[in-house]
Amino acid sequence: MGIPNLITETPGPKSKIMHANTSKYMKGLSCQVKLFPVCFEEGSGITLTDVDGNRYLDFSSGIYVTSLGHCHPKISEAISYWAKKLMNAHDFTTPIKEKLMEKMAAILPGKLNAIQLYSDGTAAVEAAIRAARAISNKQEFISAYRDFHGKTMAAVSCAQMYRGETFSYGATRAPGFYMVPRPDPYRPLWTKADGSIDTDAYIKFYETFLLEGTVGNVAAFVLEPAQGWGGSIFPPEDFFPKLKILCDKYKILIFDDEVLAGMGRTGEWLTLNHWGVVPDIVTFGKSFGNGFPVTAMVVKEENGNALEKISASSSYGGNPMACAAALASIEVIEEEGILQNVRSVGEFFMKRMLKMKEQHPIIGDVKGKGFLLGIELVKDKKTKEPFDEAGKLVYQKAFRNGLAWIPAGHILRMSPPLIMDEKYASMGLDLIENAIAEVEKEFGYK
Ligand SMILES: Cc1ncc(COP(=O)(O)O)c(C=O)c1O
Repeated sequence: MGIPNLITETPGPKSKIMHANTSKYMKGLSCQVKLFPVCFEEGSGITLTDVDGNRYLDFSSGIYVTSLGHCHPKISEAISYWAKKLMNAHDFTTPIKEKLMEKMAAILPGKLNAIQLYSDGTAAVEAAIRAARAISNKQEFISAYRDFHGKTMAAVSCAQMYRGETFSYGATRAPGFYMVPRPDPYRPLWTKADGSIDTDAYIKFYETFLLEGTVGNVAAFVLEPAQGWGGSIFPPEDFFPKLKILCDKYKILIFDDEVLAGMGRTGEWLTLNHWGVVPDIVTFGKSFGNGFPVTAMVVKEENGNALEKISASSSYGGNPMACAAALASIEVIEEEGILQNVRSVGEFFMKRMLKMKEQHPIIGDVKGKGFLLGIELVKDKKTKEPFDEAGKLVYQKAFRNGLAWIPAGHILRMSPPLIMDEKYASMGLDLIENAIAEVEKEFGYK
C-alpha cells in the first residue's frame, strides 16, 4: 500500500461522525482540528491511518512528539515490559531509572547531570523556574515575545500565547516576569547599515532593560533555543553566544527550554549545541519519550544541591514506564544514526524550500534547521504582510491530499518524524507546494 493512500474523500464519513460526537463534549479544540476534523486510529513509522482507512504521510510527529515514528517497536516493547512489571514506585529508584540517569549524563554536555523527571513539558518548566530561584536566590525572569513554555501560571507568565488566549487567562502575568523582543532575522526590529539584523542592538536593549526595567533581581532568561510554536524561527548565529556574555556579566542563568527543539529535532541533542552555549538549566519533553508522557528538568552538577531546596517530582514523574520510554528513545537515536539523518535530510529540506521560495510569490521566507522547519506566507514579498487566509487553505488542501500536519496561521510549520528519508521529505514538500500553487491561483497570483 502506498503512502499516502486515500480511499475516501478526506476527512472521511466515519471521521466526520466521530469528530461531531466527540466535540459535543470536548471543548476548546485546537484550530487545526476544527479546520480538518479527521479521526485517527493507527500510527506506524511515518504514517497515520484514519478510521475510514485513509493513510497519511506524517509531517507533524503528533505534535513534535513521536519523533522516532509512531509505535517504534523498541520503544513500545520497553514501555509494555514495565507496564506488566512495575508501573509506579514513587520517587524510589528502579533499575530502569538508574540506567536512564547514566545515559542522560553521558549524552548531555557540560556536566548537565542533576536531573528531575516529570510527565509534561509544563511541569518541567515550572520545576525549572523553581530551580532558577533556588540556584540564584533571585526572583525575576525575562522571556521573549512569541516564545511558548506551557499553560500553568508560571509557564504562561513567560510565554506568549495567541493573543486571545493570553488575554483570557494570562493577562495578569505573575509579578517579576517580563518579556522582551527576540531577534527574528526575517522581521528584524533593529538592523545594521546593510539591512541585516543587528544582534548587538537586541543585547544592548536587554542590558538597558535589566538596568532600568527590573529591580536587579533577575534569576534567568527563559528562552526556547528556536521558537517552535512562534513559527520555527531561529535566531541569528551570534545571538546566544552574545546573550551568554551578557548573562555572565550580570550573573543571570540561561534556562533553555528544549521541550520542543531538543532530543535530535535539529540534529543535536540540544539545539543550543549549534551555537556552542551550555545552558544552566534545560528542559526536555515531547520527543523525550516518543509519545509516552515523560519530561525532564536538568541543571549543572555544581547546582545540583539547589534541587534539594525545591520539591521532588510529581506522582508520575520518573515512573518505570516513563524511564523505559525515554531510555529506549535515546538508544534508538544512537543506534539508528538519527542525528546524522536529521542533519543530512535537513539540508535537503532547506535546499528544496529555498527553491520553492524563488518560485512562489507568496513564500516570503523559509526557515529552520534539521527537521524544525517553516515556510512563511505573505501577501507581498516587499510589505511582508502575513497571509493567514492562505495558510489555512494550504493546510487544508495538503491534508486533504494525504499530508498529516499541524501548521496554523501564515507560517507553515513542519515537524516530520526524524526517521524520514529524502524520498518522503520530497513527497511531503510536493503536497505542500501543490497546495501553495492552487492557493496562489485562487487568489489571482501569477
Ligand atoms: C517549548 C515548549 N515548552 C513547554 C511546552 C509545554 O509542554 P506540554 O504541552 O508537554 O506541557 C511546550 C509545548 O508545546 C513547548 O513547545
